[in-house]
Amino acid sequence: MASVGAAQAATGTPTRAEDLHLPEDHPGFSDLGYRARRAAIADACTSYQPGGDIPDVHYTAEEDEVWRVVSRELAAKHEVFACQAYLDATRRLVLPTERVPQLSEVDDRLRRLTGFRLSPVSGLVPTRQFYGALAERVFHSTQYIRHHSVPFYTPEPDIVHEIIGHANMLASPELADLYELAGKASLRATSEGAQEFFSKVFWFTLEFGVLHESGELRAYGAGLLSSYGEIQEFRRAETRPLDISAMGRLDYDITRYQPVLFAASSFGQVLEELTWFFSAYDDDMYSRLVS
Ligand SMILES: [Fe+2]
Repeated sequence: MASVGAAQAATGTPTRAEDLHLPEDHPGFSDLGYRARRAAIADACTSYQPGGDIPDVHYTAEEDEVWRVVSRELAAKHEVFACQAYLDATRRLVLPTERVPQLSEVDDRLRRLTGFRLSPVSGLVPTRQFYGALAERVFHSTQYIRHHSVPFYTPEPDIVHEIIGHANMLASPELADLYELAGKASLRATSEGAQEFFSKVFWFTLEFGVLHESGELRAYGAGLLSSYGEIQEFRRAETRPLDISAMGRLDYDITRYQPVLFAASSFGQVLEELTWFFSAYDDDMYSRLVS
């Protein structure tokens, strides 16, 4: 979800810890060591060229510990709350559990499994750039990890969200195809309204989508699958049937658990409806859907 808000563009100039923007309520705001670390990790990808080698980050023992704790706890939750397609995909990707994975190794594995690639970014990138890259089967991923004081919380997309949430999904051939179709749809949406509608559908499906499976509500959205808190709470949300037109018109708040979720009747319906929508979406379709 390295996609929301303005860009922290790589400039080639070393980022100083004090220049790294974090909001005052960020868990690492007052931790100069964390800010320096974030700045160093942001700088690590400035030399990256598309198609070239992804620079490795030498993660600290503290960072590996955050990954170990979160990865272990989320894996247990996934057995209860994740849909089967996601569980199958995690068994294909086989992420390390004891240390933060390098993007280069996840990228290598995804290329072989589904042809998807990862591209390191220093922070948030503009939504159009983030979605547009999916059309080329490229996923922009951050490399930093959340603050160690709150391992189960992050106010922004970090490597836990990108890799445990999204990269696992991209190991599924069906979901990888869906991501590519979504990217192509985003590029055909040229008006502001059409882009916003697309973003909302992406949010309520590939980020926060749920579906009925074996008599239970299960998650297929990366935002739910990477959130230790929300994955335990989503069954309390108000659920509505999967409805593209309704999703595209509903506002959402990224700072709180989603009070409304859209539930597909099956994984098959997710594939069918989203393949239909992402394959055909453009400005004209947007106009028809909101008229
Ligand atoms: Fe995401």
